[in-house]
Amino acid sequence: MTDRVISGRVLTFRRAPTGAGDAGSYDYFPDGAVLIGGGKVEAVGRAESLLPRAGGAPVDRYAGKLILPGFIDTHIHFPQTQVIASYGAQLLEWLEKYTFVEEQKYADRDHAARNAEFFLDELARCGTTTACCYGSVHAESVDSLFAAAERRGAGMIAGVAIMDRNGPPALLDVGRDSVAASRDLIRRWHGAGRQRYAVTPRFAITSSDAQLAACGALLREFPGLYMQTHLDENHDEIAAVRRLFPGDPSYGAVYARTGLLGPRALLGHCIHLDDSEIALLRDTQSVAVFCPTSNLFIGSGLFDYSRLAAHGVRIALATDVGGGTSYSMLQTAAEAYKAMQLRGQTLSALAAFDLMTRGNATVLGLEGEIGTLAAGSYADVVVLDACATPAMAHRMETVRDLEEELFVLMTLGDDRAVKQTYVKGRAVPRGLNPRRDPPPSTP
Ligand code: GUN
Ligand code: ZN
Repeated sequence: MTDRVISGRVLTFRRAPTGAGDAGSYDYFPDGAVLIGGGKVEAVGRAESLLPRAGGAPVDRYAGKLILPGFIDTHIHFPQTQVIASYGAQLLEWLEKYTFVEEQKYADRDHAARNAEFFLDELARCGTTTACCYGSVHAESVDSLFAAAERRGAGMIAGVAIMDRNGPPALLDVGRDSVAASRDLIRRWHGAGRQRYAVTPRFAITSSDAQLAACGALLREFPGLYMQTHLDENHDEIAAVRRLFPGDPSYGAVYARTGLLGPRALLGHCIHLDDSEIALLRDTQSVAVFCPTSNLFIGSGLFDYSRLAAHGVRIALATDVGGGTSYSMLQTAAEAYKAMQLRGQTLSALAAFDLMTRGNATVLGLEGEIGTLAAGSYADVVVLDACATPAMAHRMETVRDLEEELFVLMTLGDDRAVKQTYVKGRAVPRGLNPRRDPPPSTP
């Protein structure tokens, strides 16, 4: 039975666009409606034909606004909400100086629980309804995140970061077994409600060979798990992996040998892959995750989208907060466009919006659940306003069609362009993460 209707200009993708102007890749209803019942989409189409079927259910009307499936972020670090915008370092120094320091605080359950709420509020404010999240090494961090997500009805993919070397002692497996902690969390959360687990070895530098192999064994023990880690982000990182694993022909080969690659393997960055690593990713159907704001901010390099796509590597898009500099997938798409421009490549607005929604859902194997507004999907929805700021409204005066509007949205839009987010058919309360005055000690 329909319990809510959202009406406005509805847009949902059917397949990956072949380029700008590919009108067959999406369904667009200028006077559209989404019928929702029990948290799922019942029907999508023209309001005129759907409203009579709604049986008097309340209608949330968004005249002129765009209604899309909620955004999906395929790589983000939950304990880095107070690392984002840290100055002046490249990857290995950035990890040591800022990230490892901040992540130690997540041993405190209260800190983890408070920041889980902040994190999920911030994602919702930006229109992101599902994310693949790295926790800290502490089970409390991921437990708090899953619990908070489940209370909100949101589906998250997350896992504790697994590390046993080359980090501060407090983050390493000394008197703790992160693989065993992962197993406990998998039993508790993988497939519980909307939550799913990702085995999360941080990267090859911070795990022994034995620990990576134990992660591989865990993936074989429980079918349907995800695996997330980092690969080929930075030259010094790659050199360190070469020193630590001298018997392996490449960084990617370390993950292949330890059983970590496969269709549910999400590999952050993949900027400096050699040909053999590209073949490994393609042959295992692993996913290269493009994190443009992070790649630019930490100075890691330019992801070669066209090269990977030409070789048949599956590609996803992600923020990578806090190496990344925005929670907004709109801003992430804007930076993806710019990074690709620097390589003489392009990202059409259609391709970008497909990636943020259906494309990312598809690489996660979740296209029947999220990423589109097809009947039967969870009613995770974002309502966008392309006139949200004076500069956007001014630019919109000259916009002639949907694709131009989408390009304005991704180039100039951010959280301000998100009019409303729905999770499982429920409007997420407005006024999340209201601006708080800083404490008196802050300069
Ligand atoms: N490599 C290992 N850990 C991290 C992290 O937290 N962020 C980024 N960007 N790269 C990493
Ligand atoms: Zn990352």
